[in-house]
Amino acid sequence: MIIKPKVRGFVCVTAHPEGCAAHVQQQIDFVRAKGPLKDLPKRVLVIGASTGYGLASRIVPAFAGGAATLGVFFEKPGEEGRTASAGWYNSVAFEKAAHAEGLYAKSINGDAFSDSVKQQTIEAIKADLGTVDAVIYSLASPRRTHPRTGVTFKSTLKPVGASFSAKTVDTDKGLVTDITIEPASEQEIADTVAVMGGEDWAMWIESLSEAGVLAPGALTVAYSYIGPDLTWAIYRNGTIGRAKEDLEATAQRLTEKLSVTGGRAWVSINKALVTQASSAIPVVPLYISLLYKVMKARGLHEGCIEQIQRLFAERLANGAAPQPDEAGRLRLDDWEMREDIQKEVAALWPQVTTENLPTLSDIAGYRAEFLRLFGFGLEGVDYGVESNPVAPLPSAS
Ligand code: NAI
Repeated sequence: MIIKPKVRGFVCVTAHPEGCAAHVQQQIDFVRAKGPLKDLPKRVLVIGASTGYGLASRIVPAFAGGAATLGVFFEKPGEEGRTASAGWYNSVAFEKAAHAEGLYAKSINGDAFSDSVKQQTIEAIKADLGTVDAVIYSLASPRRTHPRTGVTFKSTLKPVGASFSAKTVDTDKGLVTDITIEPASEQEIADTVAVMGGEDWAMWIESLSEAGVLAPGALTVAYSYIGPDLTWAIYRNGTIGRAKEDLEATAQRLTEKLSVTGGRAWVSINKALVTQASSAIPVVPLYISLLYKVMKARGLHEGCIEQIQRLFAERLANGAAPQPDEAGRLRLDDWEMREDIQKEVAALWPQVTTENLPTLSDIAGYRAEFLRLFGFGLEGVDYGVESNPVAPLPSAS
């Protein structure tokens, strides 16, 4: 079939297999061009490995350090007449590239919040790797079914305590409008923490540890975000921020457990970037469009792969010191949060309107990057030729 993007609000419901493969290859090429890194983990489990920060966290140890990787994700395979989700095609392409290098790469497609996927993962580690020396936790999900109670929690993106009014952008239509979001109820806050907080990360580490598949000295990393005043009410002080505080507190508890064998749990505060998860948050895409404009102009722009390459090259491997902040977190948002960058974004914020959006912000860059997430707009891909939407995962055969 000829595959074209079908954007519905903040999602694209189609994905291009060759385009996703080209996107993955670009990230591999970037890592290769940066060169090998010393002391990378050698057997890495990535939970949420198919897109965004998790995919980058799979690519860096594999292609800068020859690591074996086991990826867990929740993606839809393609079928006759219907494309797979982008993360599926990304994972097919990643596995092919890793296998071509002689690297171990296996994937488990299913609900990471469930006991059965945790069990399948443990069995795969036991059978193929013995132990893992790093666990990257990079899930972003709108819901979670609790494995003990069977209750399904939904996360919400709302302010806490008071309503919040701000500018936002419809990235598809290019319209800048004002929105007011009513505050979350106590239940909505608790449910968001249940989905995006640290409980599931802790369950993973406990299950892996009890099964004896965590190597002594194992490292685990989860990703979080803080951001500036502009998004404070909807992000850091909102429902998602409560979940991130819980995730960060979980890191301290996990560190106590892992430090017995010399291991450690980290939270890395990453940069705001266009991913499937971030495009769903009100107000944030307008902030990202302005941020990209400012950071690109100063040559400081990074995508997921640049961020995660820097995480390992300058904080977690390569003989580098982690340099945590006063709360023990790694700060890859250091360039985003620089005073000069934030001052410039804050000065643009009150000026931006539908009319000047194309010049004041990098909405064009935002849109192009959004489409690339689904494999559209990649150089060297002929979008006019037929593609086969059915692509099996090499490790499944
Ligand atoms: P993403 O949407 O690109 O990736 C989410 C991943 O989770 C995918 O691999 C998906 O398959 C997987 N997933 C979702 N539900 C699942 C389930 N039930 N079972 C198994 N896998 C499941 O998201 P992104 O943006 O890379 O987010 C990853 C982490 O990074 C999140 O914790 C997010 O809060 C954090 N982060 C994101 C930032 C951003 O601007 N995008 C900034 C800083 C942190």
